[in-house]
Amino acid sequence: MAGRELIVGPETPEKPYPILAEGEVVRGFGRGGKQLGIPTANLPESVVESALSEIPIGVYYGWAKVAGDSVRPMVMSLGWNPYFKNEKRSGEVHIMHKYDEDFYGSHLKIAILAYIRPEKDYDSLDKLIEDIHADIRAAEHSLKREAHERVRHDAFFD
Ligand SMILES: Cc1cc2nc3c(=O)[nH]c(=O)nc-3n(C[C@H](O)[C@H](O)[C@H](O)COP(=O)(O)O)c2cc1C
Repeated sequence: MAGRELIVGPETPEKPYPILAEGEVVRGFGRGGKQLGIPTANLPESVVESALSEIPIGVYYGWAKVAGDSVRPMVMSLGWNPYFKNEKRSGEVHIMHKYDEDFYGSHLKIAILAYIRPEKDYDSLDKLIEDIHADIRAAEHSLKREAHERVRHDAFFD
């Protein structure tokens, strides 16, 4: 995507956002870290098919908290990962923090605040990575707004 915006979504999250969801982190295909350099935590299918079943396939931003850690910015991909031709819908969260260890099995809470873009197919892995970096930049800027910052301190995360 050329000319990506730094701020995405309304000043104040609008219905149906924030969408709150939680579950145990499950193993994905393991491509996130190795092939993309962008590790993702996968949500269980039960969560993708319940709490996240009402929103369109695409890329989102919001807040995430792994049990025992603090609330951190995240970007999330909800969909089929057309580039990798997956057969099941997946919910993958990239938390903007460098963790030293995997946290499979940990409890993950997320608050989705806005939609960024549709999922796309790409003719190269580099273009996919470039777009995810633009998603991350947009999320970081967009989450600094007061109404978004407030959700970070919501009782849901306690
Ligand atoms: C913010 C974000 C945006 C993404 N956008 C796309 C996309 O547009 N198209 C696509 O095929 N995959 C997209 N992905 C999914 C990556 O392909 C995925 O993270 C990768 O397959 C790693 O999956 P794994 O953890 O199951 O191995 C996105 C992932 C993230 C975190």
